Amino acid sequence: MKKSSVYDCTIIDLDRHHSNRKGNLTVVENNKTIPFDVKRTYYLYDVPGGESRGGHAHKELSQLIMAVSGGFTVTLDDGIVKRTFTLNRPYQGLYIVPGIWRILDDFSSGAVCLVLASHGYDEADYIRDYNTFIEYKK
Ligand code: TYD
Repeated sequence: MKKSSVYDCTIIDLDRHHSNRKGNLTVVENNKTIPFDVKRTYYLYDVPGGESRGGHAHKELSQLIMAVSGGFTVTLDDGIVKRTFTLNRPYQGLYIVPGIWRILDDFSSGAVCLVLASHGYDEADYIRDYNTFIEYKK
């Protein structure tokens, strides 16, 4: 996915099941809601205001990022175009294809960022240096 673009990444509206006076329930299913199998789940929380997370790209990993509580901003960059998304609804996910640099910031207090990932953790899949990323995308 060296040639992937920020336009391959989209907001997915997730299923919302509303129960009168009892709140909402949202579902994500492998290969139905998202075009990959979830192998790993992690979440970011207690991120101090003003801090940014992310700041890397993945060579093979697909992800769905959700603000299950609070909100934050995700900036995607394919080396040519940048797109910024505000995530602050628990029934929306941002689908990110491999080969995209991403930065998360502007966390609200109490924000929880849930990430569903297509692969297990593998440091070799990360590109952590921006110049290396730009070279990789050429
Ligand atoms: P990292 O992906 O660098 O987080 P961020 O880009 O949001 O700052 O991960 C932070 C640390 O957590 C790093 O030492 C690797 C470790 N980590 C795991 O051990 N397993 C995982 O699944 C993830 C995502 C991170």
